Amino acid sequence: MCGIVGYIGKSEAYPIVIKGLRRLEYRGYDSTGVAIIQDGKLQVHKKKGKVAELEEAVLGKNMHSHIAIGHTRWATHGEPSDRNAHPHLSNNGRLAMLHNGIIENYAPIKKELVLKGYTFKSDTDTEVLLNFIQDIQDNNKCDLEEALRIALKRIVGAYCILLIDQDDPETIIAARKGSPLVIGIGKDAHYLASDASPIIEYTKEVVYVNDYEIAIVRKDELILKNLGNEKQTPFIQKLDMELAAIEKGGYEHFMLKEIFEQPDTIYDCLRGRLLHEQLEIVMAGVDNNIEALTKASRIIIVACGTSWHAGLYAEYLIEELCRIPVEVEYASEFRYRNPVIHAGDVIIAISQSGETADTLVALESAKEKGAFIFGIVNAVGSSIARLSNAGAYTHAGPEIGVASTKAFTGQLTVLAMMALKMAKFKASITEERYVHLVNELASVPEKVKEILNNTSVIEKIALKFKDAKDFLYLGRGYNFPIALEGALKLKEITYIHAEGYPAAEMKHGPIALVDETLPVVFVATKDMYYDKVVSNIQEIKARKGQIIAVASVGDLVLPTMSDNIMFVPEIDEVIAPLLSVIPMQLLSYYVGIAKGIDVDKPRNLAKSVTVE
Ligand code: G6P
Repeated sequence: MCGIVGYIGKSEAYPIVIKGLRRLEYRGYDSTGVAIIQDGKLQVHKKKGKVAELEEAVLGKNMHSHIAIGHTRWATHGEPSDRNAHPHLSNNGRLAMLHNGIIENYAPIKKELVLKGYTFKSDTDTEVLLNFIQDIQDNNKCDLEEALRIALKRIVGAYCILLIDQDDPETIIAARKGSPLVIGIGKDAHYLASDASPIIEYTKEVVYVNDYEIAIVRKDELILKNLGNEKQTPFIQKLDMELAAIEKGGYEHFMLKEIFEQPDTIYDCLRGRLLHEQLEIVMAGVDNNIEALTKASRIIIVACGTSWHAGLYAEYLIEELCRIPVEVEYASEFRYRNPVIHAGDVIIAISQSGETADTLVALESAKEKGAFIFGIVNAVGSSIARLSNAGAYTHAGPEIGVASTKAFTGQLTVLAMMALKMAKFKASITEERYVHLVNELASVPEKVKEILNNTSVIEKIALKFKDAKDFLYLGRGYNFPIALEGALKLKEITYIHAEGYPAAEMKHGPIALVDETLPVVFVATKDMYYDKVVSNIQEIKARKGQIIAVASVGDLVLPTMSDNIMFVPEIDEVIAPLLSVIPMQLLSYYVGIAKGIDVDKPRNLAKSVTVE
């Protein structure tokens, strides 16, 4: 979590850093700060709240400088406040540092420093690390780089830090372990950031810094070293991203833009892979490892949040089509419970950001145990993508809204193609069914467009139920993960409590919640469970619950049971989640807007959770 930006070069640094922080607000937005060096003096400005609040606070101040570092925070140690905002200053007032990550052993180090007379203005682990660096430098009479190296060898945890020294205004020192850092190479300038979005408009040449590397960055020089002080050769890559992809493009919110982009992003994900006319699926990562994937005695899917819901869909899908046992694991549980992993196991990691700490660490330990890792990731070049043995990108483009939408449908699309390809290879699916499903998958972008062409009904339903205190979301089979995802979306961006449940299991508990005030959303498209779901709807109706349903176009039964129907085009049940999730996204969006919530940046959340 937390977004970091740095700039050193011939241009004015502050505006570049502020603009970059605005792009990174999706990573955290409870406080903001910048440090600059002006006439040999460090200046730090920081403020609780979003980037706009800091901008307002420094209005009229002289921010002229050719060097700046900035931070947008998602609190870990210490409540969101001005004093806990980054950057922090060292006790001698000479160093300023900001940090994305967690220093796990900060407490004993703080104790040592307090005994030596150090004082702390904040509750953060970052200020401890900074003063630890100062202390090492004072004791060892070494340069800052050496002091940092020594400090990093002592600390446990994750970090991406940027550090500046008022006695050396020509240098930014950066280091990373576990939290991302990319450096853009400009003309007489360098740009540092948590992801490429703050850099894209200045340069397309970037270096992704690796774990345990320190970067010494000057206007016209970039030196990379490992913690053993050995120089590393920077691997310069070309950015494949356009600025338009990270701007709102006329939409009121990124979330709405991203929902409406889905016909294109799903198409982009299929393009060049699902060869519709030839009825073939070409996916290099799957093709090159088809034996490992199809001969797996077991597939374990590891993910968090919305990506976990994509994993649950994959369990239904791969077990049905490929007849391979699948387990879906929350990464945070999987990593600590000493799971049994055999050398032949395949792990599929699903992650939008490719940086989620729990997923990343779970994969690292599974890889050590000999598992083959297949990554389904959206962010190109991210840590999970690099750690995976093979993978497939979702090609949804940058997702800025905190609540995942287009990345989720990208994940479902990749999983559907992958399962079909594996099933064909294994001959665990008939040719007829394969052809039918390929055709159905190819029809998804157009069908999503149809849903998006008429959103007014969904908006009306949202307005009708916006003041409800709780929602229940129910679905069966392939639509069960979508019920979970619908409930999660509602919680995330409307702050209404919602629970997702298997529609039949509802009888064993949640039914006790049902009364005339409870909206119950049924994902009830035409599939093998349809009649059973209709019975579940009757059970809720009999207890006066308010039925909201996602139904297939042409369904004549559900409209007799409720006025609140959101239609989606008919499609095979295996592919149905790609359509039924769209009304779920829109329902939450419209409720969030009606409640006046900042849906792109709802409270307490962050897009990329790089702490455990
Ligand atoms: C955060 C985001 C969610 C996301 C989850 C997993 O909680 O707010 O939208 O689903 O992290 O993130 P990942 O990047 O690994 O998919």
